[in-house]
Amino acid sequence: MVEGEVWKHVVQKGDTVIDATCGNGFDTLALLNLVADDDSHNGYVYALDIQKDALDKTSLLLEESLNSNESELYLNKLRSFRLIAFNLGYLPGGDKEIITRSETTLLALEAAKRILIPGGLIGIVVYIGHPGGREELEAVETFSAKLSVENWICCKLQMLNRPCAPIPIFLFRR
Ligand SMILES: C[S@@+](CC[C@H](N)C(=O)[O-])C[C@H]1O[C@@H](n2cnc3c(N)ncnc32)[C@H](O)[C@@H]1O
Repeated sequence: MVEGEVWKHVVQKGDTVIDATCGNGFDTLALLNLVADDDSHNGYVYALDIQKDALDKTSLLLEESLNSNESELYLNKLRSFRLIAFNLGYLPGGDKEIITRSETTLLALEAAKRILIPGGLIGIVVYIGHPGGREELEAVETFSAKLSVENWICCKLQMLNRPCAPIPIFLFRR
């Protein structure tokens, strides 16, 4: 996944990051592998989701994939965040009616903007294949376009030969 390649250039061992839509837990696991620092025992991932089913799936994936020390890493105190990841849309294999919505996505992006540290990244993957997806893309693009040039570098990756592919959007805080 292309966003994971970008994360690697931003996230450091010992960082605290947020997976704002953890779903099946694949992004949480990828992030935990980036932040976990075996020497200092630092590195935290806050994994959030609106569905209990998603939180259970993420917990299970972490339990299966990590040793117990590592899985404790993602519960800890509040601090500043270098990466906040949003993977929008519905839970793959779950209820397709439970999707992220433009209005609450925008609220979450506003909050993310306030807690991200300089040098950090808000990464958003937007899906356009389901009802409401294109509107959500438009909302995210409008939000991104309004961020100040002095403080933010905002870009999106569009697959020109896959018109319906998910669209990664990157908001780098200078
Ligand atoms: C595309 S999936 C995420 C996939 C996940 N990152 C992974 O690696 O498996 C989108 C997730 O967003 C969640 N979601 C929908 N609305 C939400 C909201 N308002 N707040 C947090 N999560 C939400 C869904 O429950 C779903 O699990």
